[in-house]
Amino acid sequence: MDLEKLLTDRLAPAFATVAGGPVDPVVRRSPRADFQSDAALALARRLGRPPRDIAAEVRDLAALDDVCTAEVSGPGFLNLTVTDRTLAALVADLAADDRLGVPVTPAPETVVVDYSAPNVAKEMHVGHLRSTVIGDAAVRLLDWLGHRVLRVNHLGDWGTPFGMLIEHLLDLGETEAAQELSMGDLDSFYTAARRKFDADEAFRERSRQRVVALQGGDERTLRLWRLLVAQSERYFLTVYALLDVTLTAADFRGESAYDDRLGPTVEELDRLGLLRTSDGADCVFPPGFTGRDGEPLPLIVRKRDGGYGYPATDLAALRHRTADLGATRLLYVVGLPQRQHFEMVYAVAELAGWLRSPTRAEHVGFGSILGPDGRMLRSRAGGSVKLVGLLEEAVARAVELTRAKNPELDEATITEIGRAVGIGAIKYADLATDRGRDYVLDWERMLSLDGNTAPYLQYAYSRIRSVFRRAGTAARPDAAILLVEPAERALAFELAGFAAVVGQVERTLAFHQLTGYLYRLASTFSAFYERCPVLRASGELRDSRLVLADLTARTLRQGLHLLGIRTPERM
Ligand code: ARG
Repeated sequence: MDLEKLLTDRLAPAFATVAGGPVDPVVRRSPRADFQSDAALALARRLGRPPRDIAAEVRDLAALDDVCTAEVSGPGFLNLTVTDRTLAALVADLAADDRLGVPVTPAPETVVVDYSAPNVAKEMHVGHLRSTVIGDAAVRLLDWLGHRVLRVNHLGDWGTPFGMLIEHLLDLGETEAAQELSMGDLDSFYTAARRKFDADEAFRERSRQRVVALQGGDERTLRLWRLLVAQSERYFLTVYALLDVTLTAADFRGESAYDDRLGPTVEELDRLGLLRTSDGADCVFPPGFTGRDGEPLPLIVRKRDGGYGYPATDLAALRHRTADLGATRLLYVVGLPQRQHFEMVYAVAELAGWLRSPTRAEHVGFGSILGPDGRMLRSRAGGSVKLVGLLEEAVARAVELTRAKNPELDEATITEIGRAVGIGAIKYADLATDRGRDYVLDWERMLSLDGNTAPYLQYAYSRIRSVFRRAGTAARPDAAILLVEPAERALAFELAGFAAVVGQVERTLAFHQLTGYLYRLASTFSAFYERCPVLRASGELRDSRLVLADLTARTLRQGLHLLGIRTPERM
């Protein structure tokens, strides 16, 4: 049970009595006490009574003495300070709980998470990095809470570029091409194809015919297409392994998978009377979407040449996810530039009845990664930055730092720690900024052992583990919790907040709320550790402090695990 909920449950009946109907007590963290309830102010306006009187009446009715002290303050807040006994009992419960107080959801849903989604024969860029990292965290968190999570890697594996890509593959020869692609030379492959397409009319014509053959299901063409897709998938899997995410080969479900459903989807829109022809294309004009000059914006579902594109594919995929997979929550982890596309897709799906409450679709959008100059991250040559290069650099830097700090460790251990720290640093830097915002890639800062970084939290974890190595014992889960020093109480209070934060992120998918919590927890632990001797304490106090330390380590480990970040035992 988390504290906010405990207090809310205790206050709600009292408010209901005073108001003559249900009222949300609005319990939140307070700068003046542990929590405050603000509901008396709005209620007072409604009842035409002084807010302080209402707050006092609620306080008296609620009889909170066994859990907290309550004080009317300011214009009519109720300041709530949890009693040490309540806090100690709660921490003891957490210590005995594998799930650290986080309940399995009482209302499990089927959630489809659409993320990563790079494009065949094209390099993954930093946008795909963000999608992969945020999507992986979403999958881990929702899965841990007991939802049925379906990972979908909506690979860009279909459409007109494949004509030119297949022709280029034929020009190179299959073996040669396969080699180039499996080495991750995706960009040079794509650029070379593109260059020929732009410069050479004969190549262009061959490419066009190849698209027709591909869409017509020509066996030889399909085989070449599969070769391209398979080589790219193999390459993407090496990136996922390096990035240490849970995506597997079974999660690829590219755009091509919906090919059969495109025709029926557009026919259904037609049957529902939603189609309009505009410039020869079949379009839906969902209400509320207008362009710069105020004219209605179309979602083009069938192009003038009869082909289907990105919007039709997303509509068919959405329909499949709700109707066939039974999903009630659809997440699309894609950069903010695609916001309008998704909002229009959702709006059309609602019009067509494919997306109905309580089922909902959410665009889990994110900003860009910027270079040190504050502009979009670019390579020295001015092209897009190769993702693998970025990950390798992070690991190399972290390995150097680890070696410098622990010269006595063997090389294999140094490499293992370096990987955990380097990849952890990249992921954490991404998850720790409000995802809607851009952020600057800053190696020094994200690998720093001070501040809101993965290495700081990993180090905090390993330090606690080393306390236990020195103690030579584990914490006794049945030990009584004593909250003597203010620093001790502050730590207990943070530990009690884990469940509330996880519950919040389940709704918002704003992972910076979780990183912020973990950072506060580690800082609070560090203050506790400075002021409260653990190994040098004795008797019950030592046992109690060992439990607090162990619970901190477990909470840090679980929290980082939900973000896809490893916690080495030593650093
Ligand atoms: N492949 C697309 C890109 O690289 C992202 C696809 C996102 N998912 C979706 N259902 N549209 O931009």
